[in-house]
Amino acid sequence: MTDISSIDAVQTMLEGQGYVCGRALGTVVFLSLTLGRPLFLEGEAGVGKTEIAKALAAGLNRKLIRLQCYEGLDASSAVYEWNFPAQMVAIRTAEAAGDTSRTALTTELFSDDFLIERPLLEAMRPDDRGAPILLIDEVDRTDAPFEAFLLEALSDFQVTIPELGTIKAPEPPIVILTSNRTREVHDALKRRCLYHWVDYPDFDREIEILAARAPEASTSLSREVVAFVQQLRTEDLFKKPGVAETIDWAKCLLALDVINLSPEVIADTLGAILKYQDDIAKLHGSEAKRILDQAQASLDPAI
Ligand SMILES: Nc1ncnc2c1ncn2[C@@H]1O[C@H](COP(=O)(O)OP(=O)(O)O)[C@@H](O)[C@H]1O
Ligand SMILES: [Mg+2]
Repeated sequence: MTDISSIDAVQTMLEGQGYVCGRALGTVVFLSLTLGRPLFLEGEAGVGKTEIAKALAAGLNRKLIRLQCYEGLDASSAVYEWNFPAQMVAIRTAEAAGDTSRTALTTELFSDDFLIERPLLEAMRPDDRGAPILLIDEVDRTDAPFEAFLLEALSDFQVTIPELGTIKAPEPPIVILTSNRTREVHDALKRRCLYHWVDYPDFDREIEILAARAPEASTSLSREVVAFVQQLRTEDLFKKPGVAETIDWAKCLLALDVINLSPEVIADTLGAILKYQDDIAKLHGSEAKRILDQAQASLDPAI
C-alpha cells in the first residue's frame, strides 16, 4: 500500500512519479484523499493539472478513467449508450430465425451485452486495485446543463439505467476536475469540491520540473530556458507559455544541440513556446534579444 497518511507522504508519492508538488498542492491532494472529496483544479493551460491525476493514478496504482469534456457533451456520452447497430443486427437475426418473442428479445437487447459504458459508469464499477481515479478534464468546455448533471452524479455516485436498474459504486471513485478557466464554472459544482488554483511555478520549481522531465538538459541551458520563459510570461501575450511549453522547448533545443540561448536560436524555435502568430510576431526583431538580456541578467552568475 502506498503511504498517503500525511502531506509529506503525498508529496513524496507524487514526486516518485516525476511530479513536482509544492506544499499547497500536496495539502489539498492529501485532504481530498483523506476526506473523499472531489478536487477541483483550475489554472492556465499547461501548468500540470491533468498530469496530477495521471501521477496520482500511477502513484496509487489505481485505474485512471478520463472524461474529456467538450462543447455539446451530454449525459449519455458521459455515462452509457446502447449499442444501436449491434441491437439492429440482433433484431434482424432474430427475425430471420423466426424468433420474434417480444419480451425475450427486449430483455436480451437491453442487457449488459449491448451496453457501452462511458467514463462515469466505468468509474462506478469496482476494480481489483481499489476505487479508480476519475478525471473530469476541462470541465469549462461543457455547458450549464452538463454541470448540473455532474453535480448530481458526484453527490450520490450512482446511475440509473431504466432498462437495467440502478448501479451504485461500491466505493466512490477519487474525482479530479480540471478547468482552464475559459469561463467560470458554477459555484454549486465548485462548492462540492476542494479547490486549488494551479499557478505557473516559480523559477526554482520550474527548474526542478525540467530536471524531472528533461533530465538530459544541462544546468546552464535549463536555467536560461526557465529564465527566458519566466520573463516571457511577464510580457503582454495572448497566450503565455505553460510548463508543457518549457519542457517541449528544452527538448527541441537539445535535439538541435544548442548549448546556450541566442536571439537566432530563439527565433528559430519560437513555435515550441508560442502558439499564436500574433505572439510570435511580437518577438521579432530586437524584442527576443531584449527579453533574453533581461532573463540572463536575472540569473545568479555564481551558479
Ligand atoms: N509540477 C509538475 N511536475 C512535473 N511535470 C509537470 C508539472 N507541471 C507540469 N508538468 C508537465 O507539463 C505537461 C503539461 O501538463 P498538463 O497536466 O497537461 O497541463 P494542464 O492539464 O494544466 O493543461 C505535463 O505533461 C508534464 O510533463
Ligand atoms: Mg489538461
